[in-house]
Amino acid sequence: MVSMKDLSKSYQLGEQQQTVLKSIQLEVQQGDFVTILGPSGSGKSTLMNVIGCLDTQTSGQYTVGGKNTADMNEAELATLRNKQIGFVFQQFQLLPRLSIIENVELPLIYSKVSKKVRRNRAAYLLERVGLADKLTHKPNQLSGGQQQRVAIARALVTEPSLLLADEPTGALDQQTGRQIMELFTQLHHEGKTIIMITHDEKIARYGSRIVHLLDGEIREERGQGV
Ligand SMILES: Nc1ncnc2c1ncn2[C@@H]1O[C@H](COP(=O)(O)OP(=O)(O)O)[C@@H](O)[C@H]1O
Ligand SMILES: [Mg+2]
Repeated sequence: MVSMKDLSKSYQLGEQQQTVLKSIQLEVQQGDFVTILGPSGSGKSTLMNVIGCLDTQTSGQYTVGGKNTADMNEAELATLRNKQIGFVFQQFQLLPRLSIIENVELPLIYSKVSKKVRRNRAAYLLERVGLADKLTHKPNQLSGGQQQRVAIARALVTEPSLLLADEPTGALDQQTGRQIMELFTQLHHEGKTIIMITHDEKIARYGSRIVHLLDGEIREERGQGV
């Protein structure tokens, strides 16, 4: 599903070059729930941006769904991002003026799906995440945990093959964070491929595999088995 070979990423800051990802080797199989665990500044978000085709590596190879991203143009990458990858962020990133159901429908607006099918699919997903009674609410009328559930429903609406989450519990209290992780676990058991980034070891343990990132290097990888 996702394969990185000897992948590095550097930033040029004036005269200095900072290498943020160093010779990363990473294989994620379909159905995996991989957590990437590392402290602040270790390169987690940079890695997530490359995995999500929001940014490109400086060297090495990145293949997603059997396609080498170096062979794809910007339009092809945008299609891949929109259709194959569902994104969940720490700060939810919902549009404040739209209702909950409109937020969830939004990724389908760019597809050929009819309005009725869009509505039904968004309503179904909101029901699945326990928000069937909130469809016409605005994001600021919901708690943080509820807003993250909306964001997860939105990420799933295009039926992506990969769900990518960057610190999805980072803005939530512990108990709410655990509930969100239980939702990810449920999605994993249904066969979703998930890559989640966190600095929190307890949260990382929800994954079936933990990849440790330290100073831009993958240091350790061990089986977990939830
Ligand atoms: N656009 C950028 N330009 C320059 N340096 C950056 C940029 N983005 C991130 N970095 C640097 O890369 C390192 C890793 O950042 P990041 O991937 O955000 O880490 P994490 O998400 O683990 O906190 C940091 O030292 C950061 O300052
Ligand atoms: Mg980060």
